Amino acid sequence: VRISGAKNASLPDVCAALLTDKSVVLTNVPEVRDIRTMGRLLADMGAQVEFRVGGTVEIKAANLTSVEAPYDLVKTMRASVLVLGPLVARAGKARVSLPGGCAIGDRPINLHLQALEKMGARIRVEAGYVEAAVERLRGTEIYFDTVTVTGTENVMMAATLAEGETVIRNAAQEPEIPDLADLLVKMGARIQGAGGPTIRVEGVDALQGAEHSGDPRPHRDGDLHRGLRHRGWRHRDPELPARAPEGRPRQAARDRHTASRRGPNNLRVRAPRTLKASDVTTIPYPGFPTDMQAQYMTVMTQAAGTTAITESIFENRYMHVAELQRMGANIRIDGRTAIVVGHTPLWGAQVMATDLRASASLVLAGLAAKGETIVDRIYHLDRGYYRIDEKLRGLGADIERITEKGLADRRSKVRVSEAAPAAEPE
Ligand code: EPU
Repeated sequence: VRISGAKNASLPDVCAALLTDKSVVLTNVPEVRDIRTMGRLLADMGAQVEFRVGGTVEIKAANLTSVEAPYDLVKTMRASVLVLGPLVARAGKARVSLPGGCAIGDRPINLHLQALEKMGARIRVEAGYVEAAVERLRGTEIYFDTVTVTGTENVMMAATLAEGETVIRNAAQEPEIPDLADLLVKMGARIQGAGGPTIRVEGVDALQGAEHSGDPRPHRDGDLHRGLRHRGWRHRDPELPARAPEGRPRQAARDRHTASRRGPNNLRVRAPRTLKASDVTTIPYPGFPTDMQAQYMTVMTQAAGTTAITESIFENRYMHVAELQRMGANIRIDGRTAIVVGHTPLWGAQVMATDLRASASLVLAGLAAKGETIVDRIYHLDRGYYRIDEKLRGLGADIERITEKGLADRRSKVRVSEAAPAAEPE
């Protein structure tokens, strides 16, 4: 399976292009709907945005004709808020729609606003829009009392053009943060510590163009292994024996999950015959990611034992539970914890995707279920997964993208139905 570049890494990279009047070329960008939407948003602001075959995007924001992110785009993709930091830093002003709530929770942006305010921006919230203005941002110390991924990205981008040093404390450490820092440094930014809890940015007067790939690079190996280890994976890695988790007896490979490196860009993953239930709580990186919670829940419906899954990041990220229950899953919600009873046979049903990750969990459930599953509203899936149906087919899955019309005469297969695209938040 060829792993596409990560949507959540490419989205801030695209926005970083707003920080310079020179050309920024990004490769290995996943050709998913959110990236297209972000491209449209930048084009509306006067940037030249060119998507090329094979996942390359070239952006040149020589002249900005608008500094507005309108509600119609922001409501379909909350990551639009990532234009706020770059716009204020480069143009000294921005008008960005407030995102509002979405399927997975409240999702306020107060921390982004407080940080920019502390950097000297005058912020006004009026008629559903955030308006920000400043002569030039100035460096300061920002402490995030909640770890925020896009908040860290927004402030890091804004700080590159601020006067003096910005120190971001309790910064998000997700791999997309050092990835964005790499791009910014190539553009001439002075950043230290990205990927750790404290990031220092020394502002410069202007940034240049750069080329950047979303590919995993060798110096990121440590992150990958650290991530896998912290996320509960066990390694069997002859190439990197020193990184194997300590104190764990070596077992026969077939009895456990293994993830081992095969060269700088390849990973071999093996699953045991029987999965074991294993409790998780979603926490910021390097903890278990909230973006894997729904998919993991589906997997645990098939594991031996009962799993407690606690969602600590978003208050409402259990919309997939009711759909999984319709497929026979035995799941009970108790506050922020879902109790999943394993070894439960699933049956195919017509289900509805409610957000990006929920839709992936339903596709996985369809693969494990007996009979045909129809997943509706897959525009959610297309926001973030590049040709997932093709990739799964390559692994032997019986999965097809079908129209409503094609539904009637096809049976006993996993199906993904294509609904009319609609504007709904993630
Ligand atoms: N929060 C605040 N105030 C803020 C910002 C965040 O209270 O100003 C809270 C949130 O409500 C949440 C927590 O802080 O409880 C963490 O939210 P965060 O800001 O980190 O989320 P985000 O930056 O909006 C990104 C991803 C999400 C992913 C989260 C958590 C992008 C474009 N989005 O969102 O991805 O779930 O981090 O890891 O990077 C997805 O891809 O399906 C997705 C939703």
